[in-house]
Amino acid sequence: MTASKSELYRELAEQLAALLIGERDRIANAANMAALLYHGLPDVNWAGFYFRQGGVLVLGPFQGRPACVRIPLGQGVCGTAAVRAATVLVRDVHTFPGHIACDPASSSELVVPLIEAGAVSGVFDLDSPLVGRFDEVDQMGCEQLAALYVDHHRRYPG
Ligand code: SME
Repeated sequence: MTASKSELYRELAEQLAALLIGERDRIANAANMAALLYHGLPDVNWAGFYFRQGGVLVLGPFQGRPACVRIPLGQGVCGTAAVRAATVLVRDVHTFPGHIACDPASSSELVVPLIEAGAVSGVFDLDSPLVGRFDEVDQMGCEQLAALYVDHHRRYPG
């Protein structure tokens, strides 16, 4: 299972790299990345971006049900990952103090910060209706995908 999950992330990384080629628009690329992971990963009910504007994360491209638009830094799983500048993996969101429930179906969550020039520019967020859906393989895979997105826009600024 772990081997096939790693293989899935390798394939998703190849597909993301192919989608990014030749395109500098951050919003367009974020939209395609959200769609790729929403449809490519099993048991995910939300996949998308929040981008930092000062002290607030503002909703970006996503797939899934409508979500809360503004999350102050430090609040929820997303705001926590942003202030820590580190991935937050939550096995059961109902046990995470301050979790922001956008879709009541969500039970577990993985939030990866986007770090550009040493600062957090946003986060990539995955939600699942299954408790314990995400593990270290998902964390590593999503961190690599987020790094592909960030590195692409460092090399090819819009
Ligand atoms: N649950 C997140 C809010 C964003 S939604 O899951 C799309 C949080 O606690 O930050």
